[in-house]
Amino acid sequence: PLVSMRQLLDHAAENGYGLPAFNVNNMEQVWAIMEAANEVNAPVIMQASAGARKYAGEPFLRHQILAALEAYPHIPVVMHQDHGQSPAVCMAAIRSGFSSVMMDGSLEEDGKSVASFEYNVAVTKKVTELAHAIGVSVEGELGVLGSLETMKGDKEDGHGAEGTMTRDQLLTDPDQAADFVKQTNCDALAIAIGTSHGAYKFTKKPTGDILAIDRIAEIHARIPNTHLVMHGSSSVPQELLEEIRQFGGDMKETYGVPVEEIVKGIKHGVRKVNIDTDIRLAMTGAVRRYLVENPAKFDPRDFLKPAREAAKKICVARYQAFGCEGQA
Ligand code: G3H
Ligand code: 13P
Ligand code: ZN
Repeated sequence: PLVSMRQLLDHAAENGYGLPAFNVNNMEQVWAIMEAANEVNAPVIMQASAGARKYAGEPFLRHQILAALEAYPHIPVVMHQDHGQSPAVCMAAIRSGFSSVMMDGSLEEDGKSVASFEYNVAVTKKVTELAHAIGVSVEGELGVLGSLETMKGDKEDGHGAEGTMTRDQLLTDPDQAADFVKQTNCDALAIAIGTSHGAYKFTKKPTGDILAIDRIAEIHARIPNTHLVMHGSSSVPQELLEEIRQFGGDMKETYGVPVEEIVKGIKHGVRKVNIDTDIRLAMTGAVRRYLVENPAKFDPRDFLKPAREAAKKICVARYQAFGCEGQA
């Protein structure tokens, strides 16, 4: 059944586990997540970005998720809008039947400039008021996602250049988080603790002062009833990078967020863990391998099968590591 994010994350908090939220764009990714959840009996959060809606088109995206609900009627599924950049995007998602939306007011509507606290509060509050009236959950974001290794923010404007951000700017402030939640009444809050989006997060395996896991506990203590969300949580497995390189890909050395650090985060109060890049890497590695090893093959089903199996393997591993087994 379709459930709200509040329902799933409340259950996760009561039972001390964290839920991966996987991004979906196509049938193979939806299949991989549902098959993995089915295998380990885990609840599901599937999320779609604005880019996903652009890629698949609204009806195809909506029906893929509806297909998942129909094919696996026993698994609770949250259909979540990832990084809604305006109240209008969130409203469109709700109209599509999404049971949860992220109003990301940490950046202005152009997705580039850092927004003021007041702007962020205003847009998030607006979405929460409307969404809650019809049982839809809301995730907000406070802070600028970015790397403490390079002191640069995630996005492309001034704060996206190396050395342009301070440590204070790159970490969510616990007092401000309390104020934000009080004013907006959001259900979940994405926080900045040194992670960033995409495959190129760190140039070496991150250590304690590069990933501020301690900050999670400080924020959690201030807003115990608001579920914390960790974006940019791909682990960028080295074996997947090696597979991509071995079969003709060109990816430079890079490191993600180690699974054990995410597990620490969950112990400190993280309940939703956003993962997109790891699935992309797994599928690309499998497709590259298949096509190199089977140069005469041309039926897309032949290479998409190992691709979706590779994605499923990542999902199963994250469900197990985050404590979701048997929680559906
Ligand atoms: O937060 C970003 C997600 O990884 C989605 O990425 O905008 O390329 O679909 P996308
Ligand atoms: P990754 O790029 O680390 O997979 O993060 C995805 C994400 O945060 C989606 O909102
Ligand atoms: Zn994100």
